[in-house]
Amino acid sequence: MKRLSHIGTAAVVCLCTMPIVVQGLNNGVAKFPALGYNTWNAYQCNIDQDLLITTAQLMKSLGLQAAGYEYVNIDDCWAMKNRSATGELVADTTRFSRGMKNLTSQIHDLGFKAGIYGDSGWFTCAGYPGSFDHEEQDAQTLFEDWGFDYLKYDNCAIPFDDIIRQGIVGKHQRMSSALQNLEETVKPIVFSLCQWGWSQVWLWGATLGHSWRTTGDIGPNWPSLASIINFNSFITQATGYYGRNDLDMLQLGNGGLTFEEAKSHFTAWALMKSPLLIGTNLSAITPDIVEILTNREILAINQDSVEPSSISPFRWGINPDWTSNDSFPAQYWSGPSQNGTVFMLLNTLDEPADMFFNLTESPWIRAGREYSVRDLWSHTDNGTAIRNLTVSAMPPHGVVALLLKDAGNEPDGIYPQCAVWSQCTAENGTLVGGN
Ligand code: GAL
Repeated sequence: MKRLSHIGTAAVVCLCTMPIVVQGLNNGVAKFPALGYNTWNAYQCNIDQDLLITTAQLMKSLGLQAAGYEYVNIDDCWAMKNRSATGELVADTTRFSRGMKNLTSQIHDLGFKAGIYGDSGWFTCAGYPGSFDHEEQDAQTLFEDWGFDYLKYDNCAIPFDDIIRQGIVGKHQRMSSALQNLEETVKPIVFSLCQWGWSQVWLWGATLGHSWRTTGDIGPNWPSLASIINFNSFITQATGYYGRNDLDMLQLGNGGLTFEEAKSHFTAWALMKSPLLIGTNLSAITPDIVEILTNREILAINQDSVEPSSISPFRWGINPDWTSNDSFPAQYWSGPSQNGTVFMLLNTLDEPADMFFNLTESPWIRAGREYSVRDLWSHTDNGTAIRNLTVSAMPPHGVVALLLKDAGNEPDGIYPQCAVWSQCTAENGTLVGGN
């Protein structure tokens, strides 16, 4: 078994053109964002063993497994309200009557990994037993006895100060350590912190786990998506291999989003390198939503094996740069990928809009070069971009995702001398363009 090394937010690599690479909890699992399913958004507490198996089977038959979705995760409400006489967690004896070991075996037999939910306090958010003061025991039950592979760990029912005598980091350290103790004897576990309370989790989450929720629960509507995108636009540097901001589950196909909004949702989550956990009733999912979820060109960037960085805004657009606006987040984004520079344009307006940018506004683009343009939604090569790019008539709340690849020097003699005028200077010292 691979030895666990708690590296934390370390390993800052800067090779001139390389981005800053943040590395999280490297215990051999979750190097890339988790792709999978979570029961909460579609079902809340209405879950049972058959639903989980049906969901796993649907993930296969719908082609989601083949596209890379790997985890089938149970959220809250799977437990009995009381622990056993010896203090163990007990799975609901009616809804999980065949037992959790049986369930994880079936999930594994279908080729998936299995996730479970717990809480760092006295109770889960729906009032089931939390793991505070039972961390070692629960880790053993969930991962050694029952065979789960992944833990989502929530933030409800925090003990009084004179009991916990820990800050928010120490509270999560307890389970992180318990999981660490299982590394050698059982297996490495994916640890997903659901620390949505104000705690600056993006500063310390990577020292303890593989992902961390940064915002409250997502809703199936544009205002919810816009506010999550806005918040996370300011903390993109926290994401790297083995550790990343978690923007919450995918709300595609739950009603409340237009098709264009659903594409924007998936694009933003994937390119910001969030875990992608489907939160939709798969029995009722429509082909257009499956098509979004299986966009292999966008999934490939989410799972990039060479470049873990999130995209980040290079221009806010309708708002001045660095404006925090829950309704109108940043519109112009880019980031590095192993195959070129990826761009995301978001039309945050409620009406169609044209969007325009100079390529060198993105730090990942070389001046004086031309770029081939791949559209990651139409799956077409759209010619060559020189200096700038305009996208006309983007639908309200619509998205464009492009991959630009260096295609050599631009033609000679292009005017102006610098696409972006700032500090544009002739060799003799003449400042060109006036700024
Ligand atoms: C919330 C969490 C949700 C879901 C719910 C279950 O705190 O953010 O994603 O897990 O608890 O009660």
